[in-house]
Amino acid sequence: MVNRSSTQADFSALAAPLREQVERQLRQYVQLPAEADRWGWFCPPRLQQAMAYSLLGGGKRLRPLVVLFAAEGCGASAADALPAACAVEMVHTYSLVHDDLPAMDDDDLRRGQPTLHRAFDEATAILAGDALLTLAFEVLARHLPPATAAACTALLAQAAGACGMVGGQADDLAAEGRPGTLEQLQAIHRRKTAALFSASARLGALCANAAPEQVEHLGRYGQCLGLAFQICDDLLDCHGQEDQLGKRVGKDTQRGKLTYPALLGTEASREKAEHWADQALQALARSGAEHPGLVALARFVLERNQ
Ligand code: IPE
Ligand code: IPE
Ligand code: MG
Ligand code: MG
Ligand code: MG
Repeated sequence: MVNRSSTQADFSALAAPLREQVERQLRQYVQLPAEADRWGWFCPPRLQQAMAYSLLGGGKRLRPLVVLFAAEGCGASAADALPAACAVEMVHTYSLVHDDLPAMDDDDLRRGQPTLHRAFDEATAILAGDALLTLAFEVLARHLPPATAAACTALLAQAAGACGMVGGQADDLAAEGRPGTLEQLQAIHRRKTAALFSASARLGALCANAAPEQVEHLGRYGQCLGLAFQICDDLLDCHGQEDQLGKRVGKDTQRGKLTYPALLGTEASREKAEHWADQALQALARSGAEHPGLVALARFVLERNQ
């Protein structure tokens, strides 16, 4: 069973220095030129402001932490994996911006501030999402060694794309207001959320030139962690507090979303989340890359209130 003896403080202490590196690097990457380059290319200031508003406006940075902890667990330094960590956060942030749009979950609060389409406008939110997604791949291509960049690009694109996160989001919307099964729900969670967590762990390992077997085990860790994470996200929508979460609560029920609490109730959902966190820790043990941050994260996802 997941060891509950340690507190969220352990995770925060391990995460803090790496989070700081991620914040600093993201700030740099999103500083796009407002002046035309020799090709006449530049970023409209309002688009840049919208990208920065979403990317730098809070967020727990869990996926970048998975990348960096995994890289360190495989013997690399955080610096080796920082571009990949930032790329994942850009993809994740874009997914949130689009997830909040009126055509999707129609939310007005994110990371404790108005959603991007509310603070700016819908077209800007769509375009800022597009721009964050493409910037992620520019960062991988430019700032990683060529062979690592190629492997990371293929993996992140696959995880974020039609068979991964985007496909999961499509099915999440299609399932609204309909009776669904546990199998359908798990297939949604595996793609809309767990794909990016699994990719994060594998990206960290790839940046450390880890052996394929280690990449595989860490990928399984990330996948199980992501499944636990999304079940807890669904539980927090029922039982969490808006001011701590920085987003609205009660929206899933209101929209008729297919969720664990809706299907199984609170207790059985919590047990499922604990099951997946345990599975994550077992995969981590098999990987031989048991970074204390990855261990602490498995507890954090179960205990978080933000
Ligand atoms: C929210 O993810 C979206 C889900 C997959 C449930 P996070 O809870 O990691 O969001 P931020 O990045 O901390 O805002
Ligand atoms: C979002 O899931 C998953 C993404 C890929 C963005 P949710 O719709 O449950 O995320 P929140 O609750 O809005 O953060
Ligand atoms: Mg959604
Ligand atoms: Mg949503
Ligand atoms: Mg949610």
